[in-house]
Amino acid sequence: MMPLRHLYVHIPFCLKVCPYCSFYKERLEPTRMRRFLDALLLELERESGKRLLQPRTIFFGGGTPSALSASQLEYLLTGIRERLDLSALSEWTLEMNPATVSMSKARLLRALGVNRISMGVQSWDPALLSVLGRVHTAAQAERSYEILREAGFDNINLDLMFAVPTQTLAQWEATLEKTIALGPEHISAYCLTYEEDTAFFERFSSGLYAQNKDWDADLFEATLDRLEAVGYDGYEISNHARPGRECFHNLAYWEGADYLGLGPSAFSTCGAERWQNVADVQAYTSRIFAGESAIGFREEVDASTHLAERIAFGLRTNRGVALDLLGPWQSVVDEYLSEGFFTHDGARIRLTRKGKLVADTLAEAFV
Ligand SMILES: C[S@@+](CC[C@H](N)C(=O)[O-])C[C@H]1O[C@@H](n2cnc3c(N)ncnc32)[C@H](O)[C@@H]1O
Ligand code: SF4
Repeated sequence: MMPLRHLYVHIPFCLKVCPYCSFYKERLEPTRMRRFLDALLLELERESGKRLLQPRTIFFGGGTPSALSASQLEYLLTGIRERLDLSALSEWTLEMNPATVSMSKARLLRALGVNRISMGVQSWDPALLSVLGRVHTAAQAERSYEILREAGFDNINLDLMFAVPTQTLAQWEATLEKTIALGPEHISAYCLTYEEDTAFFERFSSGLYAQNKDWDADLFEATLDRLEAVGYDGYEISNHARPGRECFHNLAYWEGADYLGLGPSAFSTCGAERWQNVADVQAYTSRIFAGESAIGFREEVDASTHLAERIAFGLRTNRGVALDLLGPWQSVVDEYLSEGFFTHDGARIRLTRKGKLVADTLAEAFV
């Protein structure tokens, strides 16, 4: 049996729900937490009985994993350490919100094996933090970053968002400069998307907020220019890293590797099978304790879908896509090369900067 190398754990709780966010999450309810953590550990035990789990990367995402208290995190991580073979582990990431960072939590996480932190800063501008409905201030985010460094984390990602309503180019540049000055190993810079079923989407649909693709493209280009100039490699459209500090968990997804997801709403992919757990803490927990499957949706990924996904994800990264995979679409490739969306080095196709601006549209040709 081939070992499964990548594990995702979804912690669906946040202190406060942000108006733009469509990840599955609930308001934090500390009283029901122990039952939820036990369900996660039970799901892990069951999965370990079905397949060989020997992760190289673990990613705790959410929601906000750091919304758990230090003792809850200790319970969960110790439970995971007891149930998993971690001999192959090289990267263990945990997502944090700046309002939920403390020195005791940071030291505990480091001691239990977490070696990478991804923290959602979004902006250093107080007015934009307010537009985004964030629960923390800029000063709090800076202090949290310092705490993480003092606790010994030498691999930190900061999440930023651009194309936020009312944001000016000067505000975005100031946020980039402040981030660069702090010197994280990795920066994720996301263009705001208006996701269905969010308050931002309603404001967008009612005309209160508007989207301007040209403006988004200007901000994106400013991001690439500035981050490249100071040594961050844009190894994926939204992700920039110092050499060797890419997120290897996400790279594994983009390269089409198998992974197992635990917790409500988590996806898993194993060979041609893909499934997703129910996106509902109550249903997830009661199904796990009743000995039932937590899967809410399952599908077979046929060879052509698998190939289309490898191409779409591959194009988003600077490794690009092997030219031989694109054989069936030679005329599309020629067209994109001549229009300056693609470049190639003989063996691999990559997006040019012009191509990165319209990556999703270009990928549609391969579906
Ligand atoms: C799960 S959250 C990160 C951790 C933590 N929950 C927090 O917000 O601080 C993942 C990241 O996705 C990004 N994100 C969420 N919703 C988005 C949206 N609608 N458009 C663009 N980026 C978004 C944000 O940068 C956010 O930090
Ligand atoms: S952005 Fe982060 S903190 Fe805000 S609702 Fe989404 S997961 Fe929670």
